[in-house]
Amino acid sequence: MEFSEIVQRRYSVKSYDPEKTISDAELKELFDEVVLSPSSFNLQHWTFVAVRDSALKKQLKEAAWGQSQMEDCSVAILVCGKLDAYRDAPKIYKEAPEGIQEKMLPMIQNFYEGKPQAQRDEAIRSASLAAMTLMYGATNRGWATGPMIGFDPEAVATILKLTSNLIPVMFIVLGHQKDAPRPRSYRHPVEDVVRLNTLDGPGLNGARNLLSGHQSP
Ligand SMILES: Cc1cc2nc3c(=O)[nH]c(=O)nc-3n(C[C@H](O)[C@H](O)[C@H](O)COP(=O)(O)O)c2cc1C
Repeated sequence: MEFSEIVQRRYSVKSYDPEKTISDAELKELFDEVVLSPSSFNLQHWTFVAVRDSALKKQLKEAAWGQSQMEDCSVAILVCGKLDAYRDAPKIYKEAPEGIQEKMLPMIQNFYEGKPQAQRDEAIRSASLAAMTLMYGATNRGWATGPMIGFDPEAVATILKLTSNLIPVMFIVLGHQKDAPRPRSYRHPVEDVVRLNTLDGPGLNGARNLLSGHQSP
């Protein structure tokens, strides 16, 4: 499938056929692409918990305020952000050319050690990029997907036995769509969301600057 077609086709699907399953081999193929996502310092601040078990999916639905897609999907994938990903740096840079390791390891240490906000921001950023790769990869293979943040993170952490270094970033539910496709939901026009050069600059093709008249907070 052409990439533009993948982008056009992806939308958040809320109703899934509960009879459809996904195999280990299909998941492996998908995740082989997901792990190619970019991450700061290549630290790969992500871990995925792929839930196919019916009883667990039922519990997840309860933790997601009854959203049925959590139970009916073929797999509910929790994309976790890894707060302590920086500790993997020695392994990641082990084969790096001479001089790189000596330069990068202290830099990475300094960037994250004792800085919970930086650890959390980075985990959420990198895991979110991986989640997007997952949705596009799945769309390319004919699966429907839906990102979800409507759940109780503590309940989910307990159900899926997360360790304290992992934070739930979002679920991606994946499966076969049950209902007919719905029309694309509203998008702001490109002219409203893209500014040239500076925020108070013109829009594309000379579009009016809708910011004029706005007060700074
Ligand atoms: C981080 C995130 C969390 C979301 N959580 C939910 C959710 O809990 N339940 C739901 O039905 N949709 C959820 N959505 C889907 C959005 O409603 C949807 O992406 C948005 O309306 C745009 O529509 P589209 O994805 O179909 O293009 C979420 C989307 C994102 C990116």
